[in-house]
Amino acid sequence: MCGISGVVSAEDVSLKLKDSIRNLEYRGYDSCGIAIVNGAGTVVKKNIGYVNDVAEKEAFSDVSGLTGIAHTRWATHGRVTKPNAHPHSCCEGKIAVVHNGIINNHLKLKKELLQAGHSFISETDSEVVAHIIEDGIKRHGLDLEDAFVSALHKLDGTFAIAMVSGDTPGKIFCGRHESPLIIGVGENENYIGSDFNAFIEFTKNAVVLDDGEYAVVSNESYSVKKIKDGDYISKSITVIEWDKEMAQKGGFPHYMLKEIHEQSDTISNVLEIPEPEIKAIASAMLDADNIYLMGVGTTYYSALVGQYYLASTAGVMAYAVSSDEALEAVPIKKGDYVIAISQSGETYDTLRGLRYAKKNGAKTAAIVNVVGSSMSRLVDSVIMQGTGPEICVVSTKVATAQMATLIRVAIEAGVLSKKITLAKKKELLKHLKSLPKAVSDFLNEHSGFVHSLANRQADYDRWLYLGRGVYYPVALETALKVKEVAYHHAEGMPAGFLKHGTIALIDEKIRSMVFVPPVAEKEIYKLTISAIEEIKARGGTVAAFHSSDSLAKSGLLDDQLQLPKTNPFIAPILMLVAGQLYSYFVATTLGRNVDKPRALAKSVTVA
Ligand code: G6P
Repeated sequence: MCGISGVVSAEDVSLKLKDSIRNLEYRGYDSCGIAIVNGAGTVVKKNIGYVNDVAEKEAFSDVSGLTGIAHTRWATHGRVTKPNAHPHSCCEGKIAVVHNGIINNHLKLKKELLQAGHSFISETDSEVVAHIIEDGIKRHGLDLEDAFVSALHKLDGTFAIAMVSGDTPGKIFCGRHESPLIIGVGENENYIGSDFNAFIEFTKNAVVLDDGEYAVVSNESYSVKKIKDGDYISKSITVIEWDKEMAQKGGFPHYMLKEIHEQSDTISNVLEIPEPEIKAIASAMLDADNIYLMGVGTTYYSALVGQYYLASTAGVMAYAVSSDEALEAVPIKKGDYVIAISQSGETYDTLRGLRYAKKNGAKTAAIVNVVGSSMSRLVDSVIMQGTGPEICVVSTKVATAQMATLIRVAIEAGVLSKKITLAKKKELLKHLKSLPKAVSDFLNEHSGFVHSLANRQADYDRWLYLGRGVYYPVALETALKVKEVAYHHAEGMPAGFLKHGTIALIDEKIRSMVFVPPVAEKEIYKLTISAIEEIKARGGTVAAFHSSDSLAKSGLLDDQLQLPKTNPFIAPILMLVAGQLYSYFVATTLGRNVDKPRALAKSVTVA
């Protein structure tokens, strides 16, 4: 998704500006650009493609200056073309603007500006902003700051906007409404970013802007004011605990593989979350009329895993809700409890669902990864999952950490609801605490087997992914991973649901990947084997993830990955780790761009 950065300094900013947008590449983008203010005015350079390629093609290194803004664009309004890349300029070229979000009333604004004599170069909604500011100065006699603020007043939609002007070197103007924007506070140098990664290699001190705020940032100072009335706001500094090394590949060929391997640590981090924080969520759940776990994409599947654990461990009904459908499908009301689950804390769909929940008087909480994110500040209580930066566009370590968090909540809820005893809680926590080692042992000892399975199966691109019980969301999430990084068609569904229609698809061309529970889960083990039998009886081909010696030898499977035996309480998460690794190897076998798959964005902040 689009990224914004900016640097204002006593020294040339051009190199840092390029680095800052390179640090935002992980968000996913299709074009990029910079605007630098120097003695010659405002120089804009931009094009479609990756930052390094555009920098070379457009000769970023030919331009220097003390103030600059930059952008990575993920197309929403207007095709992927050079004119549509940001920054966008006003008619005279002095004002340059970068924008994240969507301006709903851009057509109306554009019409007015065209009538006033402005001409447009791009098809984007964002370009209007540069012209409105120019119009404010030239036709209405405003100074730059007033023209910037008056432009923000005219916008209907969501935005994080940054602006520089050749007439006012040494200053970046920026403001936000429902799209994140952060100031990085350095020494003799300040920064802006749509997330911390834009400037984390330069400073760890950050000031998070809230909705309805704007800032004027120079190299020595920054001031934050309300867009509404210009009142000054005193902001505190947040110190970011992540560092650049944590966000680098650390010897792995891809971030995805590095992040899969980090899961032993990131699940351990979840085990360190203070118990009162977990208990508070569990107790609010039991007080609620209805409980909704809200996420989208992978986080919806984290929610679904949470639903199964809460049902089985605590006897608590918590509905997993895909946040993009929340408003239409769920009549959330006062007395309900809504827990948003999100890596970024900025996802449009989940924020929309959360705002709807708040508006209707529900109590809210969030499990999020990014400190200071919109969701973390919107809700009544928050659990920071402490997973650290996840750079690969597709989520791995964040998801398992969210699942582990929800498992801890389920254990506490089980005690509070008296479904389990304190002794049982101790036993379940012991199993959960054995998960980090089980994950690292599996990755150390079984990666080769996963790689071989992936090599054998990579050329087949039509799949059903099936699981029963909590192995159903495990199948869904693995199918999503395979779709995201390998571009296989993989349809996840409950293994029991197959026979109610989809079984008609079974032939020699479509393959099934089945996630088989441990034998100890007698009922769902048996039912999953039945599904395999049904596919085989119709001439289908079945590969399976399982841990059963008898199944391994049965001759029923066409291909398989036999996992080490673990306690059934944690086995689903271990199997998901295997699924993540499998999707990674399928994608690398096919030569896919695993860290930045086509069309995907890390943080989807638009509708
Ligand atoms: C995007 C990402 C997914 C992620 C989803 C939710 O679609 O590509 O990996 O699961 O957004 O993002 P969030 O930041 O809310 O977890």
